[in-house]
Order: sequence, then structure tokens, then C-alpha cells
Amino acid sequence: MRPALVLFQSHCLLCVFSGVCLLVVVGSLPPALPWHVSCPVRCVCQIKPWFSPDSVYHEAPTMDCNNLLLTKLPLPIPPNTHTLRLQSNLLSVLDTAVLQGLPNLTDLDLSQNLFSRVRMVTQSASLPSLLSLHLEENHLSHLPEASFSSLTALQELFLSHNNLHSIASGAFSGLDSLLRLHINNNRLTTVDPLWFRALPCLEVLMLGGNPVEALPERGFTALKSLRSLVLGSMGLKGLAEEALEGLEGLESLSFYDNLLTKIPRQALKRVPGLKFLDLNKNHIKLIETGDFKGMVHLKELGLNNMEELVSIEKAALENLPELTKLEMTSNRRLSYIHPQAFVGLSRLESLMLNSNSLSALHQNIILSLPGLQEVSLHTNPLRCDCLFHWAARDTAHPHLEKETNTPTARTVRFIQPQATLCSDPPELRGRRVREVSSGEMSAVCLPTIPAASLPSYAGVQEGGKLVLHCRALAEPEPQLYWVTPSGLKLGPSPNPLSKALPSTIHCNNTTSHGLHHSSASSVQVQEEAACQLFRHYQLLPEGTLEIIKISPREAGLYTCVAENALGADTRSVTVGVHNRGKNRRRGMLTKLKKFQAIRADVKLELREVGEHYAILSWQSGQNLPSTRLSWQAVYSSSHSPTYTTRVLAGTQSFNLTHLQAETFYRVCLHLGISESTKQASQRSSESRKPQCISFRTKEVPEPQPRLQLNPQLTSTAVTLLLLALLLLLAGQGWDTEPGGEAGNHRNTLYVDIKVPKTVIIYQKTEENDKYQSDQREMPHKC
Ligand SMILES: *[C@@H]1O[C@H](CO)[C@@H](O)[C@H](O)[C@H]1NC(C)=O
Ligand SMILES: *[C@@H]1O[C@H](CO)[C@@H](O)[C@H](O)[C@H]1NC(C)=O
Ligand SMILES: *[C@@H]1O[C@H](CO)[C@@H](O)[C@H](O)[C@H]1NC(C)=O
Ligand SMILES: *[C@@H]1O[C@H](CO)[C@@H](O)[C@H](O)[C@H]1NC(C)=O
Repeated sequence: MRPALVLFQSHCLLCVFSGVCLLVVVGSLPPALPWHVSCPVRCVCQIKPWFSPDSVYHEAPTMDCNNLLLTKLPLPIPPNTHTLRLQSNLLSVLDTAVLQGLPNLTDLDLSQNLFSRVRMVTQSASLPSLLSLHLEENHLSHLPEASFSSLTALQELFLSHNNLHSIASGAFSGLDSLLRLHINNNRLTTVDPLWFRALPCLEVLMLGGNPVEALPERGFTALKSLRSLVLGSMGLKGLAEEALEGLEGLESLSFYDNLLTKIPRQALKRVPGLKFLDLNKNHIKLIETGDFKGMVHLKELGLNNMEELVSIEKAALENLPELTKLEMTSNRRLSYIHPQAFVGLSRLESLMLNSNSLSALHQNIILSLPGLQEVSLHTNPLRCDCLFHWAARDTAHPHLEKETNTPTARTVRFIQPQATLCSDPPELRGRRVREVSSGEMSAVCLPTIPAASLPSYAGVQEGGKLVLHCRALAEPEPQLYWVTPSGLKLGPSPNPLSKALPSTIHCNNTTSHGLHHSSASSVQVQEEAACQLFRHYQLLPEGTLEIIKISPREAGLYTCVAENALGADTRSVTVGVHNRGKNRRRGMLTKLKKFQAIRADVKLELREVGEHYAILSWQSGQNLPSTRLSWQAVYSSSHSPTYTTRVLAGTQSFNLTHLQAETFYRVCLHLGISESTKQASQRSSESRKPQCISFRTKEVPEPQPRLQLNPQLTSTAVTLLLLALLLLLAGQGWDTEPGGEAGNHRNTLYVDIKVPKTVIIYQKTEENDKYQSDQREMPHKC
């Protein structure tokens, strides 16, 4: 315990809270020396090394009677005993007269005994030399007024792991020299600011492990000398704005294992001198822009073991010029760090990010940290693609080298490089990131929405707030949008519904659901839903969807789509809205059943057809994220291969390109609900017939000298090309078998290959185009 303070001064954040370093120090201590006195039987008397609370080394005459089942003091105690160890015995009373005869007694360890009243130790015994008193793990339940007034020199008082549920306001009076107070792990439910009035010199206060749900405003103002405050495991849900007011000298603060859901920004502003901050094991979901604003002296920050942390947002850590070590490890769901998450961290040397769900560390992050020396990324599902070029073994492109013209990118040391492995793409799986050459890393960075960021089910109370976080890393930076259960697309701000709402919709603020036509079409239902949503949803710039005052009608499947020029990824979450007061489970189940029944009124229509393309559209009034479109040229003699592509959620039209002119096509729309609940989706998509139509592409207007290819040959060519493409992009979500399992639906690619007769899939997004069906024809055999 004692050396911990020394180490705390030498900038070891973790030691203060865990005592790990104590062992290190003990290991390097000088050995004990013999002490020639008459020692009580079974006790050991030796000269042992001892550190004073202010870190001064002593050779202390020590009598060690630990673990002896003693019920009373062993005698005789040598008069010049400095340290008396009576740990783990059965003492409940103490003959204080014996102690009186020990003028040099400095350290008294009574921990793990049966004391239930503190007076049994301190009454009438004046121990003017006593600096350190250990009473942890006893049965104390109350500290009366002036409990320790006879111990005027006391510097350390250990009362942790008792049953203390009340402490008199003046319990510590007379402890003018106390530097260190441990009252952690008791049963205190409140913190009385008056306790601290008597402790003007206190430097370290351990208060954690007490069920204090809320700290008082200005509770610590008397502790002008406090340097370290540990508030771990208290059940703190938040922090009053002035909770830390007056802690002018505070350097180290721990909130380990509480219930904080946000960084307590306002409270932290009151302790600008802070150097070490431990927020490990809280329920914080996001580290947001400006969360640590103004903490210009912060040196080490711990954000580990947060079950719910999903994202580090843009400029989350900004202007922390002294920060040298940042730990964000073992956050099971942390899958996203914004490329500009760290701004102005000019002295950051050590970035610990292991054991998260990170797929990459964006190059911009490395570039923004000029002082970075080491990074820990092992035990993450790393994607070795273009986002990791900075880490690659060699840089194939000299221009890229120039761009990343900084010593850091390549000189940054990997901690445990042998365990820092690629998990994607499949051909690089298991390879060490540092040993993959940049030539092997794909130049393409498709969007990926990490599975860890979104749960597959989210329950929310009726009238409550639904918050869903969707993030994706890709290069170029992806656009994100959401699709609601009614099939509406919610695009990013500032004009959120511009895509979803045809210009003709006017949102009336009527609450009656009766639409003006009795036969409310799906379009009207959708418009109404759009207006409903428009009133109370918010899509935050990074991809978080918030719906306030959610109603049961908004339960269902929500899908996030991340899209860049190269491709897209989608992820769906089932939202259940629980009725207040009613059976939760049942409510959820009925909701699920309701939206899993696909309505039958989805109709595939041909809007427009050209020589080499056809535009198809459909209205579903539902979010059907695993919808696929298949098409096939139909010839008299045989059938050409069938091509399938996945249709992105929220899309209701599709431009099928690179078709052959004057050819009959059969196109089918296969509806499917969810990629996450596979079985359910399989059943429902199987039980559902695909919507199919047939049409013939237009004739080429004037005969031009062009290659007359045998249609079968052409289709073979297409197949071969496609095959090549598939091999190239194995595992990227292409699906050539219409009846087959839709796979893991990772990405849909729109590959723009500049070869004629190759399939190019182009996603159409405008919804307002006029419907044209005049080209629709029945299939015949040629
Ligand atoms: C206590 O310590 C002082 C100074 O080290 C020493 O002179 C004195 O003899 C000690 N007292 C006893 C009872 O040993
Ligand atoms: C819209 O709602 C507001 C307040 O709820 C009400 O004052 C107003 O009359 C409503 N307007 C229409 C056109 O219903
Ligand atoms: C709003 O009112 C107008 C005119 O009464 C109507 O045409 C329109 O469909 C209504 N919109 C919705 C979403 O109910
Ligand atoms: C559909 O694709 C074809 C071929 O790329 C293009 O010429 C046509 O303009 C597209 N139509 C629309 C409405 O985007």
C-alpha cells in the first residue's frame, strides 16, 4: 500500500488503483535483517524495510504476528517496536496499556480481525508516533465523533472492507496530518462534506465500493490538498456539475466500475489540473465531440472494459497537449473510431486499442498523432485493406509514401505484433498485419458495418427514446442512411426526408389515422408514417438514429445502409416497443409476428426499357432488407444463366443495365425480411412467391456495323466474366443462385468494369420518375 503513493507520484495510473506495482517494488526491496530481542512465541522479530507515507525509507524493527488465531496481544512486545503486524487474527479488544509502552510504534496493522468498535483500539491510548493504522476487514459499523483524536500524528488510516454505514460528521477530527484515508468498500450511502473539514492535508481518498448513488454538490471543497480520488464501484449514474468543485490539486481521479452513461463533462471542468483519469467499466456508449475539452494537463486516460461503448466520435479527444497514454481496450462493442477522432494530441506516445471490435485504425488517426511510438491493436477483427496501408510492410506506391510523409506511420511500434492478425479479407486471414505488403492489401475499402455496433434486437418502452448507433469505416467515407419498418429511407441531415418524401406529401399535424380516402393505399400509409416519423426522429451526422416518444406502430425492422462509390453494407435491428404495464414478452412477440408477415401488395413494375437497360420499380410499404432481384435472358432454345443481385434496403427501383437489345428477359423480385433472423427469413422468403415480370429490350434504332454475337456465346462470355469477378471478390455478397441461401449479405458491389456486356448494377434512388409501362410485353420464345 505505502509504496503505491510513491509510484503514483511517478505517474503510474494503474498502480494507484490496483496495487499491481506494489509487488514489483517489494521484489526489489533489501532483505530483512535479524533483530536480537526476545520475541513472543510464533511471532517473528526482524528489522524490515519500511516506507513512510511520504515515501521515506526506514529500517524498521518489526514484530510480525500475522495469521496466528490470536485473541489477545502476544507478550512481551519489544519496547522499540516500530511496526506491529497482527493481521488475520481473532482480536476484538486491545490492551491499550501495552501499546502505551511503545513510544516508537509507527505502524499498527490490525486488519482482518474482529473489531466492531473503533474505541477498542483508540481509547485512552495515546500513540504519538503512530503514522499508519490498518483496520481494514474488521466489523466496524459506525465511527463516532473524534474516533481517532488520540492519534495526532496519523498519516494513513485504512478502514476499507468494514460494515461502516454511518460516520459522525466530526469522526476524523484531530487528524490534521492525515494524508491517506481509505473508507472504500463499506456500506455508506451518503457522503458528508463535514467529514473532510478535519482533513486539510489529505492527499488520497478512497471512497469507492460504497453504495452512494449521488455525490453531493461541493462535497469535497474542504480537501484542498487532495491529489487522488477513487470513486470506483459506487453505482454512480452521473455526476452533479459541482460535485468536484474545489479539488484544486486533484491529479488523479477514478470512476472505475460505475453506471455513468456519458462522460461527466461539466463536473470534469472543475478539475482542470487532472493528469490521470480512469473511466473504465462504465456504461458509456459514445465518446463525443468535446468530452474532454479543456483538460490540458491530462496525461493518461483509461476508457477500458466498457460493454456498451460503440464509437469514438469526431474530435472526441481534442486539444489534450499533455496526453501521452490513451487506453481503450476490452470494449467488446467498440468498432468505430472516427478518422478525426483525435485532434491536437501532440504528445500521445502510446495508443492501446487491443481487444475491441475494431476493423481498422484509419490512416488519418496515425497521421494526426505526431508523437506516436506504440500502438496496440491485437485481438481485433482487423481488415487488411486500404485502410491499413499505413501499416503495410512496404509501400508500393511512392506517391502514397509522399502523402504519408511522416515518420510515424511506419515507425510506430506494434505491441504484440505476432498477435496482431488480419481477419479479413479471407485470403489474408491469420497473417500478421505487419507482414502483409501493401501490394497484397486491396486498394478498395468497402463499407462494413461491424456486427458489434448494432444489436440484432433492441427493446424500448412505449413513449421512450430509441437510439440506434450505426457506423461504418470505408474509403471513400461512406454515406449512411436508415430504412424504417415501413420502408422509408431516412437520409442524413440537413434535409433528412428529401429522399423519402415525394414532393407532393404535405405533412398534416393531424393525429387521426383516418386518411381522406377510405381505401388507404400503401402509399398513403407510407406518407402518413413518413410524416409521423418526420416529427420525432433525428439522424445524427455519424449515423445514429434517434426516435423520441416511440409508439408501438414504429416497432419492426430497422436497417442501416452504409454506401460508398464502391459498394454498400447493411445491418438490421429488430425494434420491439413494449407496452407500458402489459406483459413485456407477449407484447414483443405480437409485434414481431405482425411485421414478419409480409404484405402481399408488392408489385414489380417496368417503368422504362431501353436497348440495354430496364428500369424496374416496386412499392412495398415495408422494410425488406434481404430483397433480391434476379434476371435471365429467355431464348427459344435454352435458358441463359440467371443473375442475382441484392437490392439495398429502402430501394424501390432499379436500373438493370448491360442487357442485350431485342431480347426477352424475365426479372423476379424475391422479398425477404431479415438477414439477422435467418431461419425466419428463410421460411418467409420461401413461402413467398417471387414477383416476376417479363419484357423485351428495345431494338437498336438503325442498323450499325456491330458485332453479331450468338446470344448463347454472349451469355457464356458474361458468365465467364462474372465468374472471374466472383473469384476476385469472393465473399463480398454476390449471389449467383437465385434459390440459394443469401449468404451473410455482407456487401453488394456495384462494379463498374469498362468491358461491354458485363453486368453493371446501378442503384436508382429517385422515387418520382413517371411510370412508363408501354414497353411491357409477354415473353415469347424466339
Ligand atoms: C525510540 O527511538 C528513538 C530514536 O530512534 C530512540 O532514541 C529511543 O531509544 C527509542 N525508544 C525505545 C523505547 O526504544
Ligand atoms: C397543428 O398543430 C398545432 C398545435 O398542435 C395546432 O395549433 C394547429 O392548429 C394544427 N394545424 C392544423 C392545420 O391542424
Ligand atoms: C394532408 O392534407 C392534404 C389536404 O387535406 C392531403 O392531400 C394529404 O394527403 C394529407 N397528408 C397526409 C400525410 O395525411
Ligand atoms: C439506366 O442505365 C442506362 C445505362 O447505363 C442509362 O443510359 C440510363 O440513363 C439509366 N436510366 C436512369 C433513369 O438512370
